[in-house]
Amino acid sequence: MPFEIPDNLHPDCGPVAWMLGTWQGNGHGDYPTIDKYEFGQELIFTHDGRPFFHYFSRSWIIDEHGEKVREGALETGFLRCKPEGKMELLLTHQTGFVEIYYGTAAGGKLDLTTDAVARTETAKEYTAGKRLYGNVEGDLLYAYDMAAVGQGLQPHLWARLKRA
Ligand code: HEM
Repeated sequence: MPFEIPDNLHPDCGPVAWMLGTWQGNGHGDYPTIDKYEFGQELIFTHDGRPFFHYFSRSWIIDEHGEKVREGALETGFLRCKPEGKMELLLTHQTGFVEIYYGTAAGGKLDLTTDAVARTETAKEYTAGKRLYGNVEGDLLYAYDMAAVGQGLQPHLWARLKRA
């Protein structure tokens, strides 16, 4: 079924309407302090007509055959849609981080940068993030850069996901 924009979508969420639904696929992870890895991921964006989406992502580490090795990162939160494509993202992670992003959505792209990050006393030293999501030929591509464990902002994840 081709994606159809819901009748009750809040107009402020128009620039991110293409993200609604469930997306699945594989991605790659890297960082100077760790070994490279591959992961599987499912993202779910839902709405109820108010000007925000609920977001949930789960991931799992996979081996070279695509088989699950172990559970990976979980994150959930709200993408708050403001007029003229302005966006606010609130996220919570099982690894002890909460973050606030600001950004803009236009032309099938959503670009977000952290304004604030807080972490529990046992969490790793994560200080900033940048996310770029794009609609490429109907797929959801994203790249995630982070600053953590004493390293500057640089790639940690990138993935190409298909509409489930
Ligand atoms: C698809 C989502 C993600 C996957 C599959 C993933 C996977 C991994 C893996 C396999 C490692 C190596 C160490 C370990 O196994 O714990 C790691 C390290 C790390 N990740 Fe992620 N990650 C994801 C998302 C994130 C996000 C969103 C953040 C920040 C909010 C993050 C922050 C970190 C940090 C701080 C480290 C520690 C680096 C170090 O200790 O050298 N990750 N990640």
